[in-house]
Amino acid sequence: MGEIPSSIDDTIALLNGQNYVCGRDLGTVAFLALRLGKPLFLEGEAGVGKTEIAKALAAALGRRLIRLQCYEGLDAASAIYEWNFSAQMIAIRTAEATGGADRAALQSELFSEDFLIRRPLLEAMEPHAEGPPVLLIDEIDRTDEPFEAFLLEALSDFQVTIPELGPIRAPEPPIVVLTSNRTREVHDALKRRCLYHWVDYPSFTREMEILRARVPEATDALSAEIVAFVQSLRGADLFKTPGVAESIDWARCLIALDTVALSPEVISDTLGGLLKYQDDITRIAGAEATRLLDEAKARLATAG
Ligand SMILES: Nc1ncnc2c1ncn2[C@@H]1O[C@H](COP(=O)(O)OP(=O)(O)OP(=O)(O)O)[C@@H](O)[C@H]1O
Ligand SMILES: [Mg+2]
Repeated sequence: MGEIPSSIDDTIALLNGQNYVCGRDLGTVAFLALRLGKPLFLEGEAGVGKTEIAKALAAALGRRLIRLQCYEGLDAASAIYEWNFSAQMIAIRTAEATGGADRAALQSELFSEDFLIRRPLLEAMEPHAEGPPVLLIDEIDRTDEPFEAFLLEALSDFQVTIPELGPIRAPEPPIVVLTSNRTREVHDALKRRCLYHWVDYPSFTREMEILRARVPEATDALSAEIVAFVQSLRGADLFKTPGVAESIDWARCLIALDTVALSPEVISDTLGGLLKYQDDITRIAGAEATRLLDEAKARLATAG
């Protein structure tokens, strides 16, 4: 456990072992990122398996997964460390109450590890018995440029300095996976440090494999209809196109309703598993769903 895979095939097999279906394209960049110790930058639409690959890698390698979920306004303090201010206050009060506190001793005690709150970047740089952790920096496009610049620095030397404690340097760099939904372009300087891969919607065959791995209770015949329908739907003009996550959810909804084959009625009843915007649902429900289903069935018939 814990060894970095030695080939592209090994990498793909390792991810398959975690029920993560990985094509050769993604397998190649993932292998290279591990081999060269470079961050893996994954961009793509929602629900195509960007976050999941970091989880699968961590589980397959037996490493800890440390997740830094990005959001607007995220700052360095919330990403690296903070001092536990309220615990420090209590310690000061206790020292005052018991009297005779040695000021210097109290000062150094207050800024010791006991009062440190570790945030994801600091955790990722500390030694881990099982080997360097997987650091998932999720949805980086949600942060702002100053945070990106800070991250660039943190990722280049894997060292953070806490003034009161000194520098902390990762004994071995963590395995870094960054994801973005591309709501804005991430700066070139950051991308340049990484290996980049656009995670696309899967092909018919690959999405079938994903359903087999994730919803094994669905028959191949039902899965084929689901995938063909979802793939037709992805060609429609929608506000929010369904990802793999939605295919999986929808398959589970259909199974729960004991569906054996798709029909316009069952599709209309369960569209909420696939589409999450009322405008999209109104556009597809009814005649358009029937047309897409016919199209999907025709494609399945010609594919044999
Ligand atoms: N290649 C795949 N193999 C197996 N499961 C997959 C694959 N791609 C996606 N999934 C499944 O789809 C779901 C969504 O994946 P994930 O959360 O990684 O998407 P995402 O790209 O991070 O989406 P978002 O941008 O919304 O965060 C997960 O539950 C995962 O199990
Ligand atoms: Mg995600």
